Amino acid sequence: MNVSILGTGYVGLTTGVCLAFLGHKVTCADADEGKIAMLENGEVPFYEPHLADLITEARCNLKFTTDYSQAIPGAQVIFIAVGTPPGPNGAPDLKYLQSAARGIGENLSGGFTVVVNKSTVPIGSGNWVGSLVREAFEQRNGRKSNGNFSVASNPEFLREGTALHDSLFPDRVVIGADTAQTGEVLYTLYRPILDQTFQPPPYLPRPEEVGAVPLISTDLASAELIKYAANAFLALKISYINEIGLLSEKVGADIAQIAKGIGLDARIGTRFLQSGIGWGGSCFGKDTAALIATAHEYGLEMPIVNAAREVNRRQRERVVDKLLGELRILKGRTIGLLGLAFKPHTDDLREAPALDIARKLIERGARVKAHDPVAMERFKREHPDLEVLCCETPEEVARDADAVVLVTEWPQYREMDWEAVAKTMRTAIVLDGRMVLDRARMSRAGLKYLGLAC
Ligand code: UDX
Repeated sequence: MNVSILGTGYVGLTTGVCLAFLGHKVTCADADEGKIAMLENGEVPFYEPHLADLITEARCNLKFTTDYSQAIPGAQVIFIAVGTPPGPNGAPDLKYLQSAARGIGENLSGGFTVVVNKSTVPIGSGNWVGSLVREAFEQRNGRKSNGNFSVASNPEFLREGTALHDSLFPDRVVIGADTAQTGEVLYTLYRPILDQTFQPPPYLPRPEEVGAVPLISTDLASAELIKYAANAFLALKISYINEIGLLSEKVGADIAQIAKGIGLDARIGTRFLQSGIGWGGSCFGKDTAALIATAHEYGLEMPIVNAAREVNRRQRERVVDKLLGELRILKGRTIGLLGLAFKPHTDDLREAPALDIARKLIERGARVKAHDPVAMERFKREHPDLEVLCCETPEEVARDADAVVLVTEWPQYREMDWEAVAKTMRTAIVLDGRMVLDRARMSRAGLKYLGLAC
C-alpha cells in the first residue's frame, strides 16, 4: 500500500520503517529539514537499537521529504505521528496535530484515504481531525470532500529502546474506526503483523511465544481511551510497587521477592513491578496528566491516577532524602550519577529522573558529576543550564565522590569493577536507585549499599 507518515519522531519513524520493511511504499514527512537530511543520509536523529539497520534494509520502499505535497497525494493511509507535548495545564498542545490535519486536507487527492491518529491525542481528537481535514480540503478545492477520506485511531504501544521489537511483535493491534471500510484498509495494512507472515531480520528474531497477534477492532473513542488507560495502568503498577517498597523497607522485607511473589499470580503479572526511582519518559507523565485533564472536563476526579503521579514524584525526593540521611550535609559534597536517560537503551531525556535529582542536589549545594553511555551529548545540548560535569567513564564519576547513585540501570553499570571503584571514592557509598545491584557483592567490594526500598 502507499503510506505516508507525518512526523519522524520515535513513533512515526519506527512505524514508517517497519511498514516499509513489510513491503509497503512509505513516505516519511517532517517539517524539520535537518532531520530529513540526516534520514536521507541513512542517519537516525535519535538513538534506537537497530533502527538504522532496518532503514538500510527497507531503503527501497522509503522516501523522506519536508513537503506535504510530495507525501500526501495518492497515499492510501496517512499516519499522523507528530508531537503532542504537554501544555501548561497538563493537556497536550495540539498545534502540530492541527497543522498536520490541515496539511492533509490541503493536499488530499486520489482515491479513498484513511487518516490515522497515531500520536497520543485527547479523546475526541478523531472527530476534530476529521473536521480540520474536511475544512482544509473544501477551502482548497471549493467543493465538498464527499467521503474521500475517513479518520481512524491506531494507538501505538512501543517502548523506546525496544521500539522495533514492539512494533513487529506487538501484544495486540488496536484499530478504532467508525466505518467498516476504514477498518478494512488498516486490517490489510497490518495483515503481515497480525498473521506474523513476514521473515524478521536476524537481529530481531521472532520470540518463540509469538503467534497470531490479536486485533481489537473498535470505535474511535474507545481506541483513544485504550491508549491512555494502558499507559496509566502501567504507571500505577510501578507506583504501586514503589509504595509497597516504602512499607517493605520499614518492616525489613525484600521488595524484589515481594514483586516476584505477587507478580507470579497470573492475574497480576511480573512485568512493570521493578521498584526504584519510578517512571520518566515522554509518555507516562504526559498521559496520566492528560487523562486527569480530560476527566476534569467531564467533572470527574481520577484519584488513583493522581496518587500514582504523587508517589512517582516522591520517589525522586527519596533519593535526596536517602543521601541526606547518610551524609547529613550535602553542601560541598560530590555526588555521581550513573545514567542520565530516563531508562536504558535510549538517549531520551524527557522527564528523566536524573534531571530532577541533579537539580535538587545542586540546589542543596552539592557538586554533581554524571555519565551515560549514549545520552551525554544530548544532555549537554538540551540542558546547558544544569551544572553537571559529564564524565567520559563511569569510573570517573565515582572518583573522589561522596556517593554514587545508580539512576539508569544500563547493564554496564552492574558489570563495573566495583572493588576498584570503591577505592577511588571519597566515601564509598552507592545508592541503588533501580534496585538492581547485589547488596552482598557491593559490601564485598567495600561499598556501603543503600537501596531506595531497603
Ligand atoms: C511507555 C509504554 O510502555 C509504551 O507502551 C508507550 O507507547 C510509551 O510509553 P516508554 O516510555 O518508552 O514506553 O518506556 P517504558 O519501558 O514503559 O518505561 C517507562 C518508565 O518506567 C521508565 O522510566 C522506566 O525506568 C520505568 N519503569 C518501568 C520502572 O520504574 N519500573 C518498571 O517495572 C518498568
